[in-house]
Amino acid sequence: MEKLIVANWKMNKTDSEAEIFLKRFLDYEFKTNVKVCICPPSTSLNFVNMYIHENDYSGQVVLGGQNVNENCTGAYTGEVSIYMLKQFNVKYVIVGHSERKKYFFENDDIINKKISVIQLNDITPILCVGETHEEYKNKLTRKILANQLIGALKCATDNVVIAYEPIWAVGTGLLPSLADIDSTLHYIKQCVKQNFNFNVQVLYGGSLNSKNAGEILTLEHIDGALVGGASLDSEEFYKIIQS
Ligand code: PGA
Repeated sequence: MEKLIVANWKMNKTDSEAEIFLKRFLDYEFKTNVKVCICPPSTSLNFVNMYIHENDYSGQVVLGGQNVNENCTGAYTGEVSIYMLKQFNVKYVIVGHSERKKYFFENDDIINKKISVIQLNDITPILCVGETHEEYKNKLTRKILANQLIGALKCATDNVVIAYEPIWAVGTGLLPSLADIDSTLHYIKQCVKQNFNFNVQVLYGGSLNSKNAGEILTLEHIDGALVGGASLDSEEFYKIIQS
């Protein structure tokens, strides 16, 4: 099965920085069994979309949004709607990222609405789930993830990708053991199947880089990765894709 490798640039890169990245990155030859999704800040969606299409890379690389408002239009100063994302051929939108929960109070109610609005527009949500370090150490990961999945997928249809992102692994250099990552990814698939009766693709995210990608991306139950810091450098991101 084709692996999905997602670059989450977060609040990084202007158009000119994106151009430097894309020039180098798109010069590389990719493995054929990999789909790359780049999630730039919304200010660079237009530029990245144009660049990918003008240079004929749309077969290999697709665009994703880092966030969307749950409302389709209206008086929501500073927000971005699904219609705005659609203008730029966005194929995926990240939802429920731990940074959005921490800094912007994204909760289950909002996440459900966002997933609905994304799916109604034929775009695929990438739902992030993950436990704290305390919860990991106390072996509560499965319980926490089940709650998050059941809470977030109430109105969802089967067109959804789940990213397992332990909160304590995001941007820290810390990672769960390989065995724990694999069994958690397996558990997520089983939990969604049991509760919602559909199959999902599962990604791992959190301190993934070119050094650990080889062993993580060959785990039995993994379908891809969500990469933050290590996706900002074209060479580093390329090495992850080739892993
Ligand atoms: P990181 O971030 O790779 O920098 O840990 C991952 C993410 O937040 O998606």
